Amino acid sequence: MRVLSGIQPTGRFHWGNYFGAIRQYIDLQHEDAAFYFIANLHALTTVRDPEVLRQYTLDAAIDLLALGLDPDHAVLFVQSDVPEVSELTWLLLTGTPMGLLERCHAYKDKKARGLSADAGLFNYPVLMAADILAYDSDTVPVGADQLQHIEVCRDLAVSFNHHYGEVFRLPKAKILDASAKVPGTDGEKMSKSYNNTLELFEDPKPQRKKIMRITTDSRPMEEPKPPESDHLFQLFSLVAPDDACEEMAATYRRGGFGYGEVKKAVADAAEAYFAEARARREEWAAAPDRVAEVLGDGASRARKVAGEVLRRASDACGVSVRSK
Ligand code: TYM
Repeated sequence: MRVLSGIQPTGRFHWGNYFGAIRQYIDLQHEDAAFYFIANLHALTTVRDPEVLRQYTLDAAIDLLALGLDPDHAVLFVQSDVPEVSELTWLLLTGTPMGLLERCHAYKDKKARGLSADAGLFNYPVLMAADILAYDSDTVPVGADQLQHIEVCRDLAVSFNHHYGEVFRLPKAKILDASAKVPGTDGEKMSKSYNNTLELFEDPKPQRKKIMRITTDSRPMEEPKPPESDHLFQLFSLVAPDDACEEMAATYRRGGFGYGEVKKAVADAAEAYFAEARARREEWAAAPDRVAEVLGDGASRARKVAGEVLRRASDACGVSVRSK
C-alpha cells in the first residue's frame, strides 16, 4: 500500500494537524511506501512573505521529524522540489470542469465572506489532486476537512482515465473517527483561521494560559454532564492515558466538579504527552544540515516516482512527441 499526505507550512502546527493527520503519518510510515510533503505551493495562496514562507517550511520539516517521522522509512520532501507535480497539474486542469471547483469549500467560503479569491485558491484542489496522483497513492491520511478535495481528486482521475485509458490509480482518504475534527479552544474546528489553536510546540506556560481560557458552559458544578459532547473533555482524551480518560468520563457523568480542574488536567497531560517530541525538536533544530539532507534525499526519491507517473500521463494525452 502506498501512503501519501501533505501539510501546509502556514504557521506552527496545532493539535488538529497532529491528531487528525500527523499521528496517522507516523503510524503508516512502515507501509510499502510512505510519501509526506510540505505543501509550500499551496501555502503561497496565504503566506506572501518569502522569508516567512521559507522559515515556516523549515519549521514544518523539523516538527515532523521531531514528532517521529523517520526518514529511513518515509520519504519527506518539499512540494516545490518536485516540479513534475506542477506539470501534472496542468494536464489535469485542462479536463477540470469549472463547476467542480466552484463547489469546493475553501473558494466558496472566501467568496461568501465577500473576499476576492485568486486563481491559485480556485485551482488549489487540482494541485492537490496532482500531488496525490503523482505518487500512485492508495491511501491519503487526512482530517475530515480534506475529504471533499480527495473526492475531487478521484473525480479528475476517473475522468482522465475514461478519456485516455488507465493512467491513474484511485486513492482513498483515511480519516480517524476519534480525531477527524479536533475542536479548538472555542469548541469550533481547530484552525489557524479561527484563531482557536493549541500549538504543538508552544512554551508550556503560555499554552497553559490558553487552556485555562478554553470556553465552557455555565451549567452548575453539581450537574452530571455527558463527556462525549464536551470539547474540553475531547481535548483531554487526546492527550491523556486511557485510564485517566475513563476516570474523567466517570467524573463528568457523576457531576460535582469544576471545569478549572479539568483544564489543569488537560494542561498537565499535554505537557507530558509532547515532552519527548519537544526534546527531539531541539536536537533536529540544532542540526539544519541534517534536515537539509533529509529533504534533499526525499526530493530525489519523490521525483523518481512522480517522473514516471508524469511520463505515463503525458504519453497518454499526446504531449510527449519525442518519446513516442
Ligand atoms: P492543512 O495544512 O490545512 O492541514 C494538514 C492536515 O491537518 C488536518 N487538520 C485537522 N484534522 C482534524 N481536526 C482539525 N481541527 C484539523 N485541522 C487540520 C487536515 O485535515 C490535514 O490532513 N490541502 C491540504 C494540504 C495538502 C494535501 C495534499 C493533503 C496539499 N496537498 C495532498 C493530502 C494530500 C491542507 O490544506 O492541509
